[in-house]
Amino acid sequence: MNFEIKYKDARGRLGVLKTPHGNIRTPALMPVIHPGKQTIDVSLYGAEVVITNAYLIYKNEDLRKIAEKEGVHKLINFSGPIVTDSGSFQLSLYGDVEVTNQEIVQFQEKIGTDIGTSLDIPTPPSVKKERAERELEVTLQRAEEALEVREELMLNSVVQGSTYPDLRSKCADILGKMDFQVHPIGAVVPLMESYRYEELVEVVMASVSHLPDDRPRHLMGAGHPMIFALAVAMGCDLFDSAAYILYAEDDRLLMPNGTLKLENLYEMPCSCEVCTSHTPEELRQMEKSERVELLARHNLNVSFAEMRRIRQSIIDGNLWELVEQRCRAHPFLLEALRSLKNFTTDLEKYDPPYKKSAFFYSGPESLNRPEVYRHWKRLERIPTKKRVLLLPRSRKPYSEYLYDIPQSYYRIIHDQSIQTLEPQSIETQLDDMQVAVVDVPFGVIPLELDQIYPLAQNESPQDYDEDSIKMVNNLLKNYLREFEEIIVSDKVLKTFRLDKTFQIDEDHLFSLPLKIMVDDHERIKRIADYQFGAGAGSGLFTGDIKIVKSRKTGKIRHVYDGEELIATLRASDGVFVLAREGARRLHSFLPYPKNRVVVNEDAEPFAREGKSIFAKFVINCDINIHAKDEVLIVNEQDQLLAFGKSILNGKEIHDFKTGQAVKTRKGGF
Ligand code: GUN
Ligand code: ZN
Repeated sequence: MNFEIKYKDARGRLGVLKTPHGNIRTPALMPVIHPGKQTIDVSLYGAEVVITNAYLIYKNEDLRKIAEKEGVHKLINFSGPIVTDSGSFQLSLYGDVEVTNQEIVQFQEKIGTDIGTSLDIPTPPSVKKERAERELEVTLQRAEEALEVREELMLNSVVQGSTYPDLRSKCADILGKMDFQVHPIGAVVPLMESYRYEELVEVVMASVSHLPDDRPRHLMGAGHPMIFALAVAMGCDLFDSAAYILYAEDDRLLMPNGTLKLENLYEMPCSCEVCTSHTPEELRQMEKSERVELLARHNLNVSFAEMRRIRQSIIDGNLWELVEQRCRAHPFLLEALRSLKNFTTDLEKYDPPYKKSAFFYSGPESLNRPEVYRHWKRLERIPTKKRVLLLPRSRKPYSEYLYDIPQSYYRIIHDQSIQTLEPQSIETQLDDMQVAVVDVPFGVIPLELDQIYPLAQNESPQDYDEDSIKMVNNLLKNYLREFEEIIVSDKVLKTFRLDKTFQIDEDHLFSLPLKIMVDDHERIKRIADYQFGAGAGSGLFTGDIKIVKSRKTGKIRHVYDGEELIATLRASDGVFVLAREGARRLHSFLPYPKNRVVVNEDAEPFAREGKSIFAKFVINCDINIHAKDEVLIVNEQDQLLAFGKSILNGKEIHDFKTGQAVKTRKGGF
């Protein structure tokens, strides 16, 4: 396989795809080149790969002769990787094409295409299921036939199945087991043309969640920059744009948040060279062909800029923020964004838990982000106490700013048999009490966790919106069930309307100057539980525990047992980085295969030397590993060899045969 992932965010991947004519950095935009008609040199705009149509070349005798003699690269004058389509799109437009599957696959091989396509059937949306099934059978047969007739050619195999998620998934399962290099997702143009973005989400998610992770996916016919970010966040890697020229021919300008008609423009809306050197009126007065070329250049500028922005946001870890901005450009895109909540469990597995950027709340849709869901799953790893004290938000990290919260507290009557805590005893009872802050978007944040990503690294408006209040109220209903006694500040009670949900003990209103301190030993254990799993804190931090703090910030930096370093708390995101002793302890505490990446015999010496782990040497791993997790590298006998930071998640480590899986920190065991 020839694809590698370097960075991840959401379900998006920043990667490299190798082809005979060079590497493609993904996510990538492939401008559609019209053979014989092209006037613009798209490489000037940043195109590293282009797509052209083998069927149009095949049908035109002149073009065909040149392509057969000199190759497609000469024909369209592009020296980088070239993808070709098969005529399926013409099939979907005209109902018929004058070529067989076998002929067009062999033709693509002959003209030196880098990635060719079989003659799939693009079944339109919303057809009868019988038709979708029947046509899918043909698509699958043709895919198989393409494999039989190709020699060296890298092959696309298009996922079809109309708007039936089960057919899309079935198709992806079958094609994924066959030897294809790229998987386009087909027949989505009609969905995009009619703004049916919610169905687009359904189709894409049903496909990508059943495709192997080690192959790039091409969202066929998606050329509007408005949907690039959303599609990348769902796991699409390649896009093709005929839009840049088609919109130009129609006097329309592509923008990252929609389309503009030249006839309506008083000002040019963009800073590209076309827009800064022409007024709308000048463009309108021009000869049509000259105008089309200039608008096409603007369209290319804007489309490639958006793709660069997306690649940067994957590295920065703020792709979700970009998606949320873009999806506010059109109500139907907003609808699509909202529908991502149906896929939270899947998205959570791919989304890295630790990022360089803070989580920015941009509206109720942010409540559906995987980070929020993950927090609630991980809260279950924290051992419950008998009592809970709920505080309102302060500045972050909360534990450092609690002194300026004026408080009065209520007791919630939860279990009549529990003896009431006397007001003055709150401070003496803190040992037995979980102190937590209630805030949006994460709901409940136990104070020990107030420095770990993203619980400290997030921003939301001061005034909570209605959706957030409802969500937190719901979450609290569930969370509070675990406790025998609940003490809640009046502010939390009123803000999150707990008096509507619970019975309040009106006689026990009390007011106290709070001096809540988080115990350092408690803190390190709870962080480890949250990061590695229930009980990990006790497994890691036993013995003569010494905590060393930063002299500058006063925050915990290192944890030792006597002289032996166990782990270091990374300042940027409050997450533990293991030292050798920490890895040893985690290994003996966590049962196989938890947190493990198992390598074969060949890789064992390299792992012990501290060399990074390539995916092809991995024979097994914990499927629940997330990208950026601290992982244990072991052999088949579960002997600890090394430890490091995972680049991929468990499923990806399993699927990939090329590239790095784990950046090893230390070997030497
Ligand atoms: N171009 C746009 N949609 C499709 C599709 O479904 N299949 C192929 N081969 N090309 C396309
Ligand atoms: Zn412009």
